[in-house]
Amino acid sequence: MEFDIKQYKNAIVLDHPILKHKITILRDKNTKTSVFKNLVREISILEGYEALRHVKTFNMEVDTPIEKTLQPVVKRSELCFVPILRAGLGMADGMSDLIPGVSFGHIGLYRDEITHEPVEYYCKLPNNISEKEVYLIDPMLATGGSAIDAVKILKKHGVKRIVFICIIAAPEGVKAFCETNPDIPLYIGALDRCLNDRAYICPGLGDAGDRIFGTAK
Ligand code: PRP
Ligand code: URA
Repeated sequence: MEFDIKQYKNAIVLDHPILKHKITILRDKNTKTSVFKNLVREISILEGYEALRHVKTFNMEVDTPIEKTLQPVVKRSELCFVPILRAGLGMADGMSDLIPGVSFGHIGLYRDEITHEPVEYYCKLPNNISEKEVYLIDPMLATGGSAIDAVKILKKHGVKRIVFICIIAAPEGVKAFCETNPDIPLYIGALDRCLNDRAYICPGLGDAGDRIFGTAK
């Protein structure tokens, strides 16, 4: 039976021709590391722009050449961007392009090749992270294990408001993530068909970390 994402109210599949175009080039196995890296950054800007739509602003006084005026600016100090290492790092610059100066946390997870279960190897988060809205970023949502574990880590540190942004998701990952975290908005650039027997997304783009950092065998 076809996967019906509409049953998950927190999942948002973004639908813009420019985003689709960039993701198509990303999928191409002939796309070189430098182009791939740059596309991930651009895609992160496009997706982040949508995901940050509801972000809080406050009025700041600005002097225009004409007069003083009160105008909205984002509450940077209330935000935190958290990439899941390694591949999530590829999305970090794009998020920073949107709002420079937002603090970053880092969560290191890798998938065990046999079990496909995530293994934690690093975690460094701002001290006051529990007061912030966290934008968790990782290009791939495959089984969902890594994203679910990263959310657990954030919640253990007292974080109450989390948004997850990925570029490509598999139905298996969406189901697992949304059933575990129905309260967390999940922004998806493209929803793919399924996972293969190595838990890679089909058609997907291959190993995102390897393609961003040029470490493919
Ligand atoms: C990739 C990806 C996600 C994870 C998704 O990371 O960046 O973190 O796999 O898979 P899942 O949904 O089944 O958990 P990987 O483990 O390959 O590590 P890397 O980023 O260091 O390459
Ligand atoms: N991680 C990746 O980098 N790619 C996949 O297809 C699945 C997990």
